[in-house]
Amino acid sequence: MTKATISLRRPDPYNPPKEHVELQAEAPISRVKLTDGRELWLLTRHEHVRAMLSDTRFSSDRRDPRHPSHSPYMSGHRQQLIEMDPPDHTQLRRSIVGEFTVTRLAAWRPRIQEIVDEAIDAMLAGPSEVDLVEALSLPVPSMVISEMLGVPYADHDFFQENSADFIRADTTPEERGAAYGRLKEYVAGLVQRKIESPGEDLLSRQLAAGMAPEEAVSVGFLLLIAGHETTANMISLSVATLLDKREHLQALRDDPQLTVGAVEELLRYFTIAEIGAARLATEDVEIGGVLVRAGEGVFGLTNTANRDATVFPEPDDIDFTRMARNHLAFGFGPHQCLGQNLARLELEIVLATVVRRIPTLRLAVPFDEIPFKENGPNYGVYELKVAW
Ligand code: HEM
Repeated sequence: MTKATISLRRPDPYNPPKEHVELQAEAPISRVKLTDGRELWLLTRHEHVRAMLSDTRFSSDRRDPRHPSHSPYMSGHRQQLIEMDPPDHTQLRRSIVGEFTVTRLAAWRPRIQEIVDEAIDAMLAGPSEVDLVEALSLPVPSMVISEMLGVPYADHDFFQENSADFIRADTTPEERGAAYGRLKEYVAGLVQRKIESPGEDLLSRQLAAGMAPEEAVSVGFLLLIAGHETTANMISLSVATLLDKREHLQALRDDPQLTVGAVEELLRYFTIAEIGAARLATEDVEIGGVLVRAGEGVFGLTNTANRDATVFPEPDDIDFTRMARNHLAFGFGPHQCLGQNLARLELEIVLATVVRRIPTLRLAVPFDEIPFKENGPNYGVYELKVAW
């Protein structure tokens, strides 16, 4: 058994911790000790992380104190989709997955384009230096999910402000907790309104199809939280990369068709969901020749797995032409990101529109001085000052 350490600290903004990458060759499955004394298995190879995430003998139920993502507040809390195991998970997921298919989302393309254009219009109408996180990265996913959930236009500001408070660096845990409470209460009220007066939105459809009101609150809240900061972080990191490594910006200018490949490659490259692949073994399972015993925690390092050279040649190069689609940035298996097609669509539209509409865009601070989020749960940036 190899003892390794676990760290979310990246040696530089672009790369996962070196010690994790080294483990891929030396000890791809190793035991690690967390600061609280608990031990768990660390998987670093693409093959092993994928196998673990698709095996339902590894549980997502974080209420179990042995689960690597357990925290004491979880006892007694209502399980979210992301924390459920089959058969409950399968049933609930089946009822909402239809909302997020590529075909279904295609209908949203024109509206998402309008939302992006409106945010960029507002940005260009003001001073020629802004924080892109506030001007574009956070409002776009927030606006899109608000409309999907059927949040009335008058409540959009409330929604955006509270979601932002939940995510910002300068808020205290108490402030974040309060914003969390206000959002949850808001979604409960929204569900009640949809029961009384249904609309053409996701929540109304789910309720009409027989979803229990408390389930609709839970689903609505998860969709709101899961897709907001993640997509915002990817927008900011992608734009920051294009402005830092200008050859990639030029490549998109020369061939806008490359945008779809760029989105996929940047998702692979940054793999922002740092703690999205924690599971608990419910039975003895052999993985990569190692026996993981029932009751042991496992952590799949997707950001390291996405730099596995056996799957992605020259993994540390950014290459918009590589077919990176088999990356694990959205996880894998039964819990693979439900909103991945929406995230891809938003990212594609934002990147294409920024490249086309703001040709003089540049970083307003040196790349190294951008405040990166280094302590999980999602990698990203707190602020991105840009000018044009
Ligand atoms: C699950 C990443 C955007 C909704 C996940 C998981 C990852 C992930 C890694 C799997 C967690 C696990 O296995 O335990 C991301 C990234 C995003 C993104 C990197 C943006 C770039 C979104 C969006 C939505 C969304 C836009 C919806 C509006 C969800 C939901 C789940 C999930 C509901 C739980 C699925 C389940 O448990 O069956 N996401 N996500 N995500 N994501 Fe995303």
